[in-house]
Amino acid sequence: MKQSDCLKVNGQGHLTIGGCDTVELAKEYGTPLYVLDESGVRAACRSYRDSIDRFYGGRGRVCYASKAFCCKEICRIMDSEQMGLDVVSEGELYTALAAGFPAERICFHGNNKTDHELCYALREGVGLIIVDNEYELMRLDRFADELGKKVSIAFRIKPGVDAHTHDFVRTGQIDSKFGVALETGEAMEIVKKALTLQNVVLKGVHCHIGSQIFELEPFELAAQRMIEFMAQVREETGYTIEELDLGGGFGICYTEKDAALRYDSYMEKVSVVVKETCERLSFPQPFMMLEPGRSIVGSSGITLYTVGSIKEIPNIRTYVAVDGGMTDNPRYALYQSEYEAVVANKADQPKTMKVTLAGKCCESGDLLGENMPIQQVESGDLVAVLSTGAYNYSMASNYNRLCRPAVVMVKDHASRVIVKRETMEDLVSNDL
Ligand code: LLP
Repeated sequence: MKQSDCLKVNGQGHLTIGGCDTVELAKEYGTPLYVLDESGVRAACRSYRDSIDRFYGGRGRVCYASKAFCCKEICRIMDSEQMGLDVVSEGELYTALAAGFPAERICFHGNNKTDHELCYALREGVGLIIVDNEYELMRLDRFADELGKKVSIAFRIKPGVDAHTHDFVRTGQIDSKFGVALETGEAMEIVKKALTLQNVVLKGVHCHIGSQIFELEPFELAAQRMIEFMAQVREETGYTIEELDLGGGFGICYTEKDAALRYDSYMEKVSVVVKETCERLSFPQPFMMLEPGRSIVGSSGITLYTVGSIKEIPNIRTYVAVDGGMTDNPRYALYQSEYEAVVANKADQPKTMKVTLAGKCCESGDLLGENMPIQQVESGDLVAVLSTGAYNYSMASNYNRLCRPAVVMVKDHASRVIVKRETMEDLVSNDL
């Protein structure tokens, strides 16, 4: 279990997280259950902030990408860590504001923001709107005019960098639904357009090349191209763009195969590229923004399940069914993402089996993993799937009318519910 410092095994052989015995957590709160370690989340925030201080003179901000895991408590924690917040929908923005997160530290993303979302963001005084396309730019300028506001914007740019990750989460290349491309001249055109408008203030450019990326080179290349573009804008228009938002995408360790990036080596390398490129082009070093999501919360979360039926199909495989599945973690079904699993009540024992961990949905693809090494597992055992803090709760569904699990936050041997378990009443609450 090299994923996270918050996981230990206690004297009874039980897995613990944040000092809490997972067997006790399951008894108290039921399963399936998401558990998130607060200290781990806070440590990740600090490590990003420290690396900006160390390698970029503190001239930057880390905005947590709330799509990775969004609820009121995580927004409060991000606020108390002085983070910014990246939201992509009315719902994420509403959650942040409901938690008291300051609007000026929020940046609003999305490739297809509705009129309603743009006006909501304007009215609430969201700090930065990352504009995706010209249709959005023109509407935003009009709505800002109607509301008597000036709005700070950045443009989402496709830097033409191809990151090696799953196709569904690659976003830097020209064939992407996000943003405007550099190569085609589209990016320069939209910048020039923005400079003619009265109600938008062009603050920055933004790129996000993908997610769960392990190589540093694509990040370095993207940073270099973005600065070159900023310099070209200055050359062609005389206007200096002051902020560079390099998005998120830093990979985390899901299984032993993954060699997670250290954020400080990322910041160190990227800062060098930014500084060198700026020097070469005599361009002032921009204020830098980063938007990590997965790497803030991913490794600090686990999901606990109770094992139900076990089917051994001789010479084929053993299915171990749990009381959740693709409804609380659709990532194996969607991207064949691999996870590590542990029998939480036998965590001190060696992993002697290889199993297929299956969910309880009416769907053969409802699996949490195949060929997963695990301890000798029996019905009634508690299984922990590790590194589920990101893109699990936030991507959960009610398929088969399963209730979304509760989320429990642990810290220093104490636990508290931060998102209640859905109930049957919740399930029918919108039905007429
Ligand atoms: N900024 C922007 C504009 C993004 O689109 C994303 C993620 C992030 C930041 C945060 O990226 P991160 O640091 O978390 O990699 N559901 C997929 C991941 C989708 C990522 C979407 N955008 C998964 O479960 O792997």
